[in-house]
Amino acid sequence: MADKKIIAVVGSTGAQGGSLVEAILRDANGRFAARAITRDPTNDKARAIAAKGGEVVQADLDDVESLKKAFAGAYGVYAVTNFWEHLSGEKEKAQAKNIADAARAAGVSHVIWSTLEDTRKLMKADDKRMPMLQEKYRVPHFDAKAEANAYFEGLPTTFLVTSFYWDNLYSFGLAPKKGADGKYEWTFPMGDSKLAGMAVEDIGKSAYGSFKAGQQYIGKTVGIVGENLTLTQMGEKISKGMGVGPIRYNAVDANVYRSFGFPGADEMGNMFQVYRDFEKEVTGARSANVARQLNPDLQNFDQFIAKNKSKIASAMNPAPAA
Ligand SMILES: NC(=O)c1ccc[n+]([C@@H]2O[C@H](COP(=O)([O-])OP(=O)(O)OC[C@H]3O[C@@H](n4cnc5c(N)ncnc54)[C@H](OP(=O)(O)O)[C@@H]3O)[C@@H](O)[C@H]2O)c1
Repeated sequence: MADKKIIAVVGSTGAQGGSLVEAILRDANGRFAARAITRDPTNDKARAIAAKGGEVVQADLDDVESLKKAFAGAYGVYAVTNFWEHLSGEKEKAQAKNIADAARAAGVSHVIWSTLEDTRKLMKADDKRMPMLQEKYRVPHFDAKAEANAYFEGLPTTFLVTSFYWDNLYSFGLAPKKGADGKYEWTFPMGDSKLAGMAVEDIGKSAYGSFKAGQQYIGKTVGIVGENLTLTQMGEKISKGMGVGPIRYNAVDANVYRSFGFPGADEMGNMFQVYRDFEKEVTGARSANVARQLNPDLQNFDQFIAKNKSKIASAMNPAPAA
């Protein structure tokens, strides 16, 4: 243990970081040890990591000094920010800057920055197809991450471009649900375009593969995906894998989706519209072959459904409100 290289994992109690911690801990004879970063080491997920042998360290992305301490002595840092906690592009950038500054101060050898593309580059500034959000972003959680890439320049960084998590089916309420006629349906502004998706577990495993490969991916932008599928194809696979009837796909206009009114509806409407209108660019920036080189266990959507059947079933059939 003592001679293992430490990977300090931001977001260790969450989906991406948690899957990396899991990948490191599972490889008990590997060269790396996990240092799990959380604001609250007493939370259940942090305790579970500690129980499996991971080191747990307290730090806050809003406090650069706490990050410097948490990164001290580490070989690597997995860097992810959580837009959905505050819905602010500016805050996401400030937190990314804190991570980069602390990684620089700690002199780490490899940073993986979980990023996304700048969707503003896909459209002219006066393009009216979707609104600007927070004054200057098309899709704030994409564009802010892309802007934050600059903070990592000069650091030994892998820019990991991730994809839509299929886990959103159960963790973000996006699974098909029964409509008024008792048949399953779901609604997206995706037309017939393909959505670049993957199991979040495979983001952690790919990051681990990148740390293991070391030099090969430093200074590189690496886009990963499990499979690109239309919503119709996804519905067919869910129907077959879950043993339920056909899933009706309501392909609404992006303006309609943006008007749904749930927190982040405008953001999600813009995001899906980018996936829809710029299918070639978005899918072209991600590769399942590269993801498989980093992580030979990469799942396709059928495998993901089979592995997560009970969680998907619960999400498709939520208990009636009491
Ligand atoms: N959902 C998708 O399909 C998708 C796809 C691609 C990219 N993303 C991006 O993924 C990011 C979220 O990652 P996730 O899904 O892994 O999130 P998550 O499961 O919600 O977990 C969030 C993690 O961030 C940590 N965290 C949040 N604020 C922190 C702070 N101030 N200081 C220290 N730690 C903090 C939390 O740690 P503690 O609470 O323990 O402190 C937790 O471990 C988002 O920015 C999103 O844009 C999402």
